[in-house]
Amino acid sequence: MPPTIRTRVAIVGAGPAGLILSQLLADAGIDSIVVDSRSRAEIESTIRAGILEQGTVDLLRTIDPGTRVDTVGHRHDGIELRFGDEGHRIDFPSLVGRSVWLYPQHEVLKDLLALRLGAGQDLRFGVTVEGVDDGDPEHPAVVATDAHGEPLRIEADFVVGADGSRSVVRAAVTGSSTGGYFREYPFAWFGILCEAPPSSHELIYSNSDAGFALISQRSPEVQRMYFQCDPNADPSAPSDAEVWDTLQARVPGTTLNEGPVIQRDVLRFRSFVAHELRRGRIALVGDAAHTVPPTGAKGMNLAIADVVLLAQALGALLGEDDDRLIEGYAERALDRIWKAQHFSWWMTSMLHVAPDASAFDRLRQRGELSTVVESEAGRTYLAEAYTGWPTR
Ligand code: DHB
Repeated sequence: MPPTIRTRVAIVGAGPAGLILSQLLADAGIDSIVVDSRSRAEIESTIRAGILEQGTVDLLRTIDPGTRVDTVGHRHDGIELRFGDEGHRIDFPSLVGRSVWLYPQHEVLKDLLALRLGAGQDLRFGVTVEGVDDGDPEHPAVVATDAHGEPLRIEADFVVGADGSRSVVRAAVTGSSTGGYFREYPFAWFGILCEAPPSSHELIYSNSDAGFALISQRSPEVQRMYFQCDPNADPSAPSDAEVWDTLQARVPGTTLNEGPVIQRDVLRFRSFVAHELRRGRIALVGDAAHTVPPTGAKGMNLAIADVVLLAQALGALLGEDDDRLIEGYAERALDRIWKAQHFSWWMTSMLHVAPDASAFDRLRQRGELSTVVESEAGRTYLAEAYTGWPTR
């Protein structure tokens, strides 16, 4: 038998979802072990999205006195939707009394790793999980290989798959590694990090005849920008000058501050929701349970919203032997997941130009954009969804 360790909750994945879950469980007096296949350095340096909903920020402030969301992060009170050579600002506080924060995911992760390791969390890097053994349904076990290549078995009262879109835990819940509702898109984002001053103090989501672009930021010195591209595009193919020409052409009426491109990547788009989020004492959260296209920045926020619900359910199940909340976990989580799926799909389809778009399609899209920005109801829906629905 491989070395076996015991814990109450085995959490696979030390991303925002897994780490926040370990904190919320610790607050409820429930021990957990978190494992991740990556190293700490890899987790802290991978560039991901950057927008946190109001509710996510409120939670980080509550659980982490050391969070830098208010010092390194920036509050954003609106975004600009740009089309037909004009910008239209959506002002969040006046519409919904909420805001968002630009605070990159890898900075959130640095805070959360420091928080959990500082509290003595059993957190193991370089652990490759092979699967979940649910032979004893009351005590599922994570079957893994540790950082030294030695077999490792973690027996728990509950196993959580917070292990991202290529989840290994998912198969133990849905019966296959892919089982779910699925949609692909005929475009992707070409993302860059560049050394330049900000081009705008708020995010610009731009629909142009040449395609979509998003102007975001990272710091006073480094900016993050994206433009719609072919899903098979080679990130190293265009020169810096070509990247800038493409970006400039997609935000007509705005002049971007240019600078050296220090990182490039191509992000493929998918919408996915697993057919099941829980089976017995195994549950999925975050990208393991669902993926959204990036337009609207829902991914990390949705993962954290799952975790808030699951932590309440595990507190009741493991603390008070009450299974009512865990029985309702999937249904409660799916309510928000499908709203976020709709919003992400809607922002994506409203702002991008499909490769086969006809003149009718383009003109209809303009009609849709005008409807949204000219109507207080339209702006309010966008602001409500962008800043995040309250958790129930
Ligand atoms: C960023 C990413 C998004 O998908 C988005 O909608 C807004 C901002 C970003 O990486 O900054």
